[in-house]
Amino acid sequence: MKLILLGAPGAGKGTQAELLCEKLGIPQVSTGNIIRSEIKSGTELGNRVKSIVESGALVPDTLVIELLKNRIAQEDCKPGFLLDGFPRTIPQAEALEEICAVDAVVEIYVPDTAIVNRMSGRRTCPSCGATYHVTHNPPKKENVCDSCGADLIVRPDDAPEVVQGRLQVYHEQTEPLIAFYRDRGLLKTVDGERPLEEVSASIYEALGIQ
Ligand code: AP5
Repeated sequence: MKLILLGAPGAGKGTQAELLCEKLGIPQVSTGNIIRSEIKSGTELGNRVKSIVESGALVPDTLVIELLKNRIAQEDCKPGFLLDGFPRTIPQAEALEEICAVDAVVEIYVPDTAIVNRMSGRRTCPSCGATYHVTHNPPKKENVCDSCGADLIVRPDDAPEVVQGRLQVYHEQTEPLIAFYRDRGLLKTVDGERPLEEVSASIYEALGIQ
């Protein structure tokens, strides 16, 4: 199965992607995680995009499309994959259509006001990319990743003033993808402003998964 999770920053794509991928046995392909890993490793690409990501702007399409192509060409993506954070612009969506067909696109809808509140409580694992929330989805041990034991951090682009800018970028550049995929009969929208187990249940239902 080839799936896309669409939604504003903080809508819960990463959180739901982890659960859905475990259920379906397919890899989560998060362009945000790939880019953060390049930045952390200090690669040439990582150094080029660090300030762009920390400002909340989008990395240029050509770079992200190349990263995505390389990732989904890997062996573990052969049975399918879930795209989290890609595509984010119409040119990215058009490039993806050239590479492969997808089975469904799930939009997780959360209003901006709820997002600003969520982001202030988010904690992220800098090592494996797992995501937590101090009250809605806390780790078992305070500030320590359940999956790999690393100390959790607050992402630099989660500062409230940067989050506002990321929402604006989302509305201007990514939201047009909703109509793009609706026109192709692929879009399913779920209400993301509910407890995460309920959001998961709606996603499974929308995809016809038990
Ligand atoms: P990326 O990492 O993709 O960030 P994003 O899309 O902005 O999404 P987030 O990771 O911020 O949020 P999310 O929807 O995954 O929410 P989460 O599950 O964490 O991209 C980062 C940057 O990389 C971009 O700004 C850009 O610069 C660059 N980039 C990446 N891809 C790109 C591309 N394709 N093109 C160009 N540039 C690209 O949840 C948020 C919080 O809410 C968590 O604390 C979580 O625990 C909590 N939460 C989740 N669900 C619920 C719930 N139901 N109720 C209450 N709390 C909840």
